[in-house]
Amino acid sequence: MKVNGKSYRTIWPTKTGRTVEIIDQTRFPHAFEIVELRSVADVARAIKTMQVRGAPLIGATAAYGVCFAMDADPSEQALDDACAALLATRPTAVNLRWALDVMRRAVLPLHPDLRSEKAWQVAARICDEDVAINMAIGMHGLEIIRRIAETKGPNAPVNVLTHCNAGWLATVDWGTATAPVYMAHDSGIPVHVWVDETRPRNQGAFLTAWELGHHGVPHTVIADNAGGHLMQHGEVDVVIVGTDRTTANGDVCNKIGTYLKALAARDCGVPFYVALPSPTIDFTISDGLVDIPIEERSGSEVSHITGRTGAGEVHTVEIVAAGSNVANPAFDVTPARLVTGLITERGIVEPTRAALAAAFPERVAGA
Ligand code: MRU
Repeated sequence: MKVNGKSYRTIWPTKTGRTVEIIDQTRFPHAFEIVELRSVADVARAIKTMQVRGAPLIGATAAYGVCFAMDADPSEQALDDACAALLATRPTAVNLRWALDVMRRAVLPLHPDLRSEKAWQVAARICDEDVAINMAIGMHGLEIIRRIAETKGPNAPVNVLTHCNAGWLATVDWGTATAPVYMAHDSGIPVHVWVDETRPRNQGAFLTAWELGHHGVPHTVIADNAGGHLMQHGEVDVVIVGTDRTTANGDVCNKIGTYLKALAARDCGVPFYVALPSPTIDFTISDGLVDIPIEERSGSEVSHITGRTGAGEVHTVEIVAAGSNVANPAFDVTPARLVTGLITERGIVEPTRAALAAAFPERVAGA
């Protein structure tokens, strides 16, 4: 997508072809900074500290971590060590494990002398495929928005509510939940996005609002608790969110607070769609509540907040009463029964085991 007229992906190889650059997402929305990654340790740190985040981008970045490992030492032991270190960075998004499996399967059968070159090729392919997947999700999701637009007056915007950042910053390009929005906007369908601020890390207010603004998409940032009220008053036509892991039977794990939006949507009769790239399906598990590891992050993300002062300085301040305990579960699970449909690269899929398996038979076999 474009930033100040220049096209960016969220990760790209540098001119040397032996390092990559990323956009440092810990600096948004106050600064746009590019950081170079040169080693497995750099990649692990970038994922852990959320310089890169979002399920698909975590996977793509980890793939480059394997490239660095193979450049330094193409032995099987080095591959094992790198994959273990990268897998330990964040627990919930299954794209991390998926990308490491793809990389391992591609390089391990080769002679060590050939592994590094192959790793760079496959990491680039993972990135290109992510872009293609998101564009396909965008095309299928666009039809949902178009159908809603047809039921409204010619100039009445379609109001989409989204949670967290499932935008291009969370992927290599386009985003998952935002791809239909960008395509609707670009094709002249009036669209407006309610952006949940997404406490505690504020991915909505800091990232989604930033990227929608740069693309010129009308949007309004709301407190996380406002969505139910807006749905009760007919202000939301459709909810579209992303996912960090979707089980074989269609349970969806996404940023904390997603479940509450799904409950409100069901109560208000608002369609609740999940944009789902196939690498985010975990066919090895069935019960999202039992089987998906939920990341517990530092309580300081709840007790402190970072913002810009009137003087333009960025400061972090404490906002919780001194001495109070804080807890910070970062994801929750929305059961399949609350999901209207999964917007995948192969079309809209029912959130059921049979429908997911029919849409992605090769993934079931390889799960
Ligand atoms: O903790 P984050 O910022 O990595 O969480 C991101 C999300 O929950 C996204 O909604 C999800 O990864 C889908 S991204 C296309």
